Amino acid sequence: MSDGLEGVIAADTVLSEVDGEAGRLIVRGRSLDQLAGGTSFEQVTRLLWDGFFEHLPDDLAPALGAARLEVFAEVAALDTGLLDRTPIEGMRALTARLADGDDLAVALRLVAAPAVFTAAVVRAQAGEAPLRPDPALSHAADALRMLRGRPPSHAEAAALDTYLVTVSDHGLNASTFAARVIASTRAGLTSSVLGGISALKGPLHGGAPGPIIEMLDGIGTPQNARAWIEAALDRGDRLMGFGHRVYRAEDPRARVLRRTAQELDAPRYEVAKALEDAALAELRARRPDRVLETNVEFWAAIILDFAQVPADITPAMFTCARTAGWAAHIMEQKLTGRLIRPSARYVGPAPRPVRDVPGAAEIIDRDA
Ligand code: ACO
Repeated sequence: MSDGLEGVIAADTVLSEVDGEAGRLIVRGRSLDQLAGGTSFEQVTRLLWDGFFEHLPDDLAPALGAARLEVFAEVAALDTGLLDRTPIEGMRALTARLADGDDLAVALRLVAAPAVFTAAVVRAQAGEAPLRPDPALSHAADALRMLRGRPPSHAEAAALDTYLVTVSDHGLNASTFAARVIASTRAGLTSSVLGGISALKGPLHGGAPGPIIEMLDGIGTPQNARAWIEAALDRGDRLMGFGHRVYRAEDPRARVLRRTAQELDAPRYEVAKALEDAALAELRARRPDRVLETNVEFWAAIILDFAQVPADITPAMFTCARTAGWAAHIMEQKLTGRLIRPSARYVGPAPRPVRDVPGAAEIIDRDA
């Protein structure tokens, strides 16, 4: 048995390769270092979906824009009972309303949904009406416009686009595995994506950027970084944005987003770099046995902050990107995979009389 299925190969995939030893990510044969900054989210989605959907257009941007408009109709169903939930939970509830049907149409709607629904939930929470999508904009620019109520700058839209490309797919991570398990039962694209969203929102997966911004706020200036890190580790806290199940070298996505943050002159770059340096030094000193490097979530938090995405919305933004990868994995599972059904080793008590079960004795006596 492998605790947490570490090192277990559970699927063959042509989608992405995570090389943990070399710190390298390959998406359909292209290195992330080349894709990020050189291709748009729509182009990477097209690349991921190639061969898995019939009638895939060469340019996915108009179809994705049209899908944003289609799903906007569901926003009317947003009920006030959802407004005290987190944005990703509100978005998930609206996504559950989407019907299955033609695979490509459904996949496009599922990729469109997080941007449209998250913006609608966040605006409703602030007492504001939702904004209708603009299909002429890029997905990144429209996501920011719908969220903030005004168009983003070119740099902000480019920052979000680079982020979406960077996190669009990543091997058999927890949420992709969850989506593939559900897909393996033939439950369909929508149910599988809902499973992915549910897995992604946890703090050990896609929920880390919020606490990272809180950490940066707590530190304030670069000089305070080391003392803050030492205190956190002395308390036994895990440092959000550090460590990874697979990488035993730098997470290439962290590298790409750090470079992007520096190029954009992101306001928090300096304090984030000081925090990263202090955290890595302290983790190396305390855990010489374990490689604990910066993971994607750390620099994602800085990029999303630059794009003025509030910290509590970052898991929902992660979903905007990862739905592209999930949809491809779900189709790959459907086309090539078997029902996923592993086994568990039973470590409970040996067989004993049913009378031992609390309440069972009375039921047995009554039925006798
Ligand atoms: N800070 C401090 N110590 C850490 C950290 C961290 N960020 N990460 C791991 N460790 C320690 C653990 O406490 C553990 O110590 P132990 O052996 O004394 O129990 C040891 O390093 C090994 O950690 P594991 O739990 O085996 O690592 P695992 O592979 O299960 O978990 C994970 C990886 C969940 C990412 C972990 O490193 C973590 O919790 N990081 C912080 C949360 C985070 O950044 N999540 C985003 C991940 S990236 C993504 O999902 C897109």
